[in-house]
Amino acid sequence: MRLTVKPENPLEAIALQTRKELQPFLLAMLGMGVSQVVVTAVRLGIFDALNQQPQTAADLATAMNYDAHGMQVLLESLDGFGFIQRQGNQYRLTAVSAQHLTKAGGLVHDFLRLGGDISSQMALLEEDIRTGQVPNFHFDPQSSTCAANYYTMLESSGQQRAPQVIKWAKLNPAPKRMLDVAGGPAEYSIAFCRSYPGLKASILDLPNAAQVGMPKIAEAGLSDRISYIEGNLLDTDWGTDYDLVFLSNILHCLQAEQCQIALQKSWQALRPGGTILINDLFHPGDRGKLSAPMSLFSLIYYVTCGGRTWPQSTVLEWLTQTGFTHLRSAQQQLVLVVAGQKV
Ligand SMILES: C[S@@+](CC[C@H](N)C(=O)[O-])C[C@H]1O[C@@H](n2cnc3c(N)ncnc32)[C@H](O)[C@@H]1O
Repeated sequence: MRLTVKPENPLEAIALQTRKELQPFLLAMLGMGVSQVVVTAVRLGIFDALNQQPQTAADLATAMNYDAHGMQVLLESLDGFGFIQRQGNQYRLTAVSAQHLTKAGGLVHDFLRLGGDISSQMALLEEDIRTGQVPNFHFDPQSSTCAANYYTMLESSGQQRAPQVIKWAKLNPAPKRMLDVAGGPAEYSIAFCRSYPGLKASILDLPNAAQVGMPKIAEAGLSDRISYIEGNLLDTDWGTDYDLVFLSNILHCLQAEQCQIALQKSWQALRPGGTILINDLFHPGDRGKLSAPMSLFSLIYYVTCGGRTWPQSTVLEWLTQTGFTHLRSAQQQLVLVVAGQKV
């Protein structure tokens, strides 16, 4: 999948063919505009408001107490970029926007909302690369809304993804004790406990995540089976004798040496015969083709945590060096799953 600039009429086609500078220029500038406008509209609740009824810019600005001039420009941009449609002076949602960019859109909506916070981190990219110093948004967020939007997005993504990971892992015998490393707001632990009725899970994460996750665990009726170990995974005691150590979407938050520490700690925390299970974004390494979405996610992990998406071959090599055997792995669209054993 690649971003491209597609002509809409013969004149534009000729312009793109004859003026080769237009493709890279428009790609960069349109990309910037589309991103800012859609993320802003999600955060301001514009898609939700237009989902109630088509409106003029003036009426919408009055109803939402926003600036009328700015609203006119924003709605025209959304129309020009194809996210809403103007009929007379009224704006209405396209079917796709109504389904995915309103609150009902779930993960897409929640991720785009977080997009505003990612954008604050992205603004530092030039500085990050000049200095090698990247503010990790888990400890030093660049926007006040970051933590709330982050955990909401993690809840949506965990609910969607957990059943597929559990299905792929085919854990047999059923695990009784699990450590969910950086388990966030508990979605995966909740799903594992529902799949394995004899399972107790410990989630190792930062205090912020525990605050969000604990009410979710109580709501799920699992407070007697899931608890948090609060702390930094790099220097907290993980405990021992787990049947399963689960590392979901944490390696991409870490630098190479930190990933290796996390894998060594996983080894020490598992009982002999225990399983390590990794769920993270897929990266093909030097040999495969890196798609635009794959490179975008790796970039997001760099600007938000100083991490990156680690190639499948690197993850497998680290696991082998740590001592894990019986490795199996699979690419599931943009995601990599890996399982290994401590024999
Ligand atoms: C991308 S989220 C993954 C959450 C969950 N495992 C999932 O797959 O949705 C990363 C999680 O790692 C936690 N985290 C990041 N750095 C950490 C650290 N040094 N120690 C403990 N937790 C950390 C964050 O609080 C967050 O919950």
